[in-house]
Amino acid sequence: MSWIRDKELSLIERLCANVLKAGPVPKHVAFIMDGNRRYAKKCHVERQEGHSQGFEKLAETLRWCLNLGICEVTVYAFSIENFKRSKEEVDGLMELARQKFTRLLEEKEKLQKHEVCIRVIGDLSLLPLDIQKLIAQAVLETKDYSKCFLNVCFAYTSRHEISNAVREVAWGVQEGLIEPRDVTESLLDQCLYTSHSPDPDLLIRTSGEVRLSDFLLWQTSHSCLVFQSILWPEYTFWNLCEAILRYQYNYTAIQKSRELYSRDRARLQSETDQTWVQQNMFCVEHRNEEEKTKTFQRLLLQCQTDREHRTQNFLRALERKREFFLQSLCTN
Ligand code: FPP
Ligand code: MG
Repeated sequence: MSWIRDKELSLIERLCANVLKAGPVPKHVAFIMDGNRRYAKKCHVERQEGHSQGFEKLAETLRWCLNLGICEVTVYAFSIENFKRSKEEVDGLMELARQKFTRLLEEKEKLQKHEVCIRVIGDLSLLPLDIQKLIAQAVLETKDYSKCFLNVCFAYTSRHEISNAVREVAWGVQEGLIEPRDVTESLLDQCLYTSHSPDPDLLIRTSGEVRLSDFLLWQTSHSCLVFQSILWPEYTFWNLCEAILRYQYNYTAIQKSRELYSRDRARLQSETDQTWVQQNMFCVEHRNEEEKTKTFQRLLLQCQTDREHRTQNFLRALERKREFFLQSLCTN
């Protein structure tokens, strides 16, 4: 079955979608698609069938999101923790991924029609080589589309992602591209696998579990979290509407906390820069207060411009390194 469905919403669904669209609709929604195995047990079907139906639900949900005007979706498809499951289950999930990414590559014209950019987020090196290659192909072929974005977290955990970002930064320092004092929250942000996406506005977890299970821990500190008791393969358009309503109800508070946070972050950075200039650059004698203030402002500006320059240089090198990795998977 295909990733992208052209099925339209029913009349009543369309009506409800239009009502919701009169309010703020989340631009980016993340899903922890939980409950596939419980669903399989409940329906007396094989566990693998539960996961297959989970994929069908993902494709259906993507269609609903598109109809609701949600242009970015991130899904937790396979956690690094999932490698600890039985070999039979892990192999089954890998086979599902193999089939679905192959299918995705056969649907190029649909991806092009909807301008869907596919990103796979996680440590690809943990996956079988043939799947790595399929993923690299799908990612590279869709990288320039920018109307909607599907981020598939595969071989992913948040702590692994954050540790990797720290390693990238250490590499940048070692290569002389950045200095230790350039390591800021914003730089780490840009070294995460998710650096090209805005933080999710809404995170939904199904199956009644109320925890994040190492998913987007860094990115969801100001997101609306909605936990729903339904098992993922049974998820409906109405469940999604309910989650969006809860987002709308909390919208003002979420926006306020985001604004406050980014203001505080900018203030903190500016204070850190001022202290650094004071301690490291500001040692010349001055004739008067006016001259002293002018020199201080000039050095502060220089310190910020230099950092910006080093940072952009480093991020470009990182981007090239990541693209080279994907390209080498496609050519070898
Ligand atoms: C959680 O349910 C689900 C998973 C570990 C796998 C999710 C995968 C899909 C929905 C298919 C997506 C595939 C691709 C290729 C994108 P669970 O197994 O933890 O079930 P339980 O909570 O009932 O035990
Ligand atoms: Mg589970």
